[in-house]
Amino acid sequence: MKQYFDTTKNGVEVSKYTIKNAKGMQAVLTDFGATVVDLLVPNRDGNMVDVSLGYDNVDSYDKETTYFGAVVGPYANRIADARFELDGVVYELDANNNENNLHSGFSTWAKQVWTVKEHTANKIVFSYSAKHLEQGFPGNMTCDVTYVITDNNELEISYYAVSDQKTTLNMTNHLYFNLNGCLSGDVLGHELMIKASRYTPVKNAKAIPTGEIATVEGTPFDFRVAKTIGRDIKAENDQLTYGLGYDHNFAIDKEVDGVERVATAYAPESGIVLDVYTDCIGIQLYTGNFMEGQIGKQGHKHAMREGFCLETQYFPNSINEENFVRPITEANVPYETKTVYAFSVK
Ligand code: BGC
Repeated sequence: MKQYFDTTKNGVEVSKYTIKNAKGMQAVLTDFGATVVDLLVPNRDGNMVDVSLGYDNVDSYDKETTYFGAVVGPYANRIADARFELDGVVYELDANNNENNLHSGFSTWAKQVWTVKEHTANKIVFSYSAKHLEQGFPGNMTCDVTYVITDNNELEISYYAVSDQKTTLNMTNHLYFNLNGCLSGDVLGHELMIKASRYTPVKNAKAIPTGEIATVEGTPFDFRVAKTIGRDIKAENDQLTYGLGYDHNFAIDKEVDGVERVATAYAPESGIVLDVYTDCIGIQLYTGNFMEGQIGKQGHKHAMREGFCLETQYFPNSINEENFVRPITEANVPYETKTVYAFSVK
């Protein structure tokens, strides 16, 4: 199903597209930012719950810097000093987060109108083409993001991009989850497991990693055994002070080369379980620390921590940080990654 959503400030009409499976799990997406607006999954009583934070109008998606549900590209999270060097050439980006680049800058792919290439009952393919040096990134690029709702109540997100020049690609989806429902309050009672024995501490509140890949052992960042998001969030810890809570990349303990389960969240009230599968090496846990006052769906005024993100990615600033795997995509060689958000009940 396709229906009119809104008109952008440039006068472009954007739509809402529904995809669903036979069990009733359903996603509503918009071509603005290839964004997931609603994500309806069954709770333990079989009632559908919208677990994705979003807005009612395109203006908010455009203006706000929460990136609710959007596809972030070409480069997710931060690039220090809004610049990087590739083969001796320096590329200058937007400094849109202090002196740094966040989520690719002011004209991020999250704020572009994408083309719909294919739309069937349970699948939609969004496509975006970026010109060489658009937002400062090298290469004419074309990108397809495919969302599928499987019969197993999974939202599968596949990223495919090709550039005609060597470039950097590090894409993610910025869904904010609240497994008790997007208007239900904070997520501190959700239990969370992240399969990571290391994480990347940041230098200060501007959130650029130090370059260290530090152990989580004995820190509030140890989610290897499930604990509530709220258990240690107020612990005395410089890293938590910098981020106003969790806003950190975890180095996934990879067991296989491809897609594997890397995190599980569970909301005891609704009974909804979210398992995250990915082939990415990093995952950003962001606990909605900077969302206070956002006007979400149905005019709901959000407080901080009413959603959490598990953004699969290369490590922040990895294009500049020699200690991290550099996300380099060669000319005409496809960049491909996959992340699956799987829902069940307990
Ligand atoms: C970043 C946060 C930022 C949020 C919304 C996250 O990926 O790590 O620092 O506030 O996105 O922009």
